[in-house]
Amino acid sequence: MTTEPVRATAVAPPKPAPWLGSVRAAAPGWVEAFEAAPREWFVPDLVWRKNPTGRGWLPVNRNMEPETWAELVATDDFVVTQVDDGHPTLPGGIGRAVTSSTSMPTMMAVMLHTLNLPTDLHRRNGPGLRVLEIGTGTGWNTALLAHRLGVGNVTSIEIDPQIADHARAALASTGYPVTVITGDGEQAPPASDHDHALYDRVISTAACHRVPYTWVQQCKPGGIIVTPWQTPYLGSALLQLTVTHSTTTDAMASGRFIEHASFMPLRAQRGGDWIPDPDTEPDAAESATALHPYEPVSDYDGCAFTVSLLVPDLEKSIAFPDPHDQHTYEVLLFEATSRSWATITVTPAALHTDIYLVRQHGQRRLWDEIEAAYTWWEHHGHPTYTQFGLTIGATGQRAWLDDPSQPLGPITPPDSRA
Ligand SMILES: C[S@@+](CC[C@H](N)C(=O)[O-])C[C@H]1O[C@@H](n2cnc3c(N)ncnc32)[C@H](O)[C@@H]1O
Repeated sequence: MTTEPVRATAVAPPKPAPWLGSVRAAAPGWVEAFEAAPREWFVPDLVWRKNPTGRGWLPVNRNMEPETWAELVATDDFVVTQVDDGHPTLPGGIGRAVTSSTSMPTMMAVMLHTLNLPTDLHRRNGPGLRVLEIGTGTGWNTALLAHRLGVGNVTSIEIDPQIADHARAALASTGYPVTVITGDGEQAPPASDHDHALYDRVISTAACHRVPYTWVQQCKPGGIIVTPWQTPYLGSALLQLTVTHSTTTDAMASGRFIEHASFMPLRAQRGGDWIPDPDTEPDAAESATALHPYEPVSDYDGCAFTVSLLVPDLEKSIAFPDPHDQHTYEVLLFEATSRSWATITVTPAALHTDIYLVRQHGQRRLWDEIEAAYTWWEHHGHPTYTQFGLTIGATGQRAWLDDPSQPLGPITPPDSRA
């Protein structure tokens, strides 16, 4: 049976979005859904825009600044809908970190396309293809899924109760009353809500670096999991996993990184809990390196992605003491559990000699590990991120190069080989 969504009369008729052409190119099967459920139906009145004069995010209230609000919502970009988990932390009510947003429309289209839904799939509310969405946010992506698959075939989980309430209300008032569970999407839902391997697709709109095993367990064999994958070290890539088998005791999924995609992380995978202050640690071990940090730290398509797979739990920040001097900076690398850090300093003099000062402190020698990962990357022919994939099983997550039969082993830092 096909059921048309019942639209509340208070909702304004949709205007064509300027980015619909890009959506059509990225995901032709989803254009009708984007046209039927416009973004502005789901975006709350309070959004946030980048502070043009300093750091952080400034509030934009739709009632007070309707044009700015409409401009933000019309862009093919993400729009921030919550900062600092709902409690702005910078002075003057300015937000520091983005904690919820409506994602970039073209990116959403790419992700939806990556779900590989059958092209002849028609909207229906009876049994059909079932999707679990993690990270409801505004509910817009949820509505797009519901439009294509039928309201009853979509379940969405949102960790933040206020955001979940907003999404539930927006979905109900626009004719897509999807079940929105308030909870942690990394956990399996309560037993009463949960049949084993219930879903044909799982899509997360928040990034992870440890793919939750519960997603694999909840997806049927042959089903597809789409998630942005991202470590605190690097921007993220879209990961598309296919569930190879799923029994009550054993489940497995495997697949490749396929696209660039930058998303906010799942709440429990944020990182940044500890940031060292190297200036207060005079006893750090000093050495010199001829490896400029650009490739292993910042070359996203190349070595830096490899480093993020080979050197676990790495985080980084880059500090420019003079914002007008792009040739003098310090790269800080750190890992919270072992309280280890390393710095590498780039100056015009160091660039001239191609020798850079390294300081390392703590149980792990992070720069040595990065150099070992760089050597590995060179020996393997400079693989790019789309050559890598992940396999998720009961024993954990394993990265591989080219094929699941070629798992990445542990690497040995140069000084431990000496
Ligand atoms: C990028 S936003 C979602 C965008 C959304 N799909 C939309 O169309 O508006 C990511 C959302 O994931 C939520 N989130 C973060 N960690 C979560 C978790 N462990 N379980 C469920 N939701 C989570 C955040 O609160 C945030 O609302």
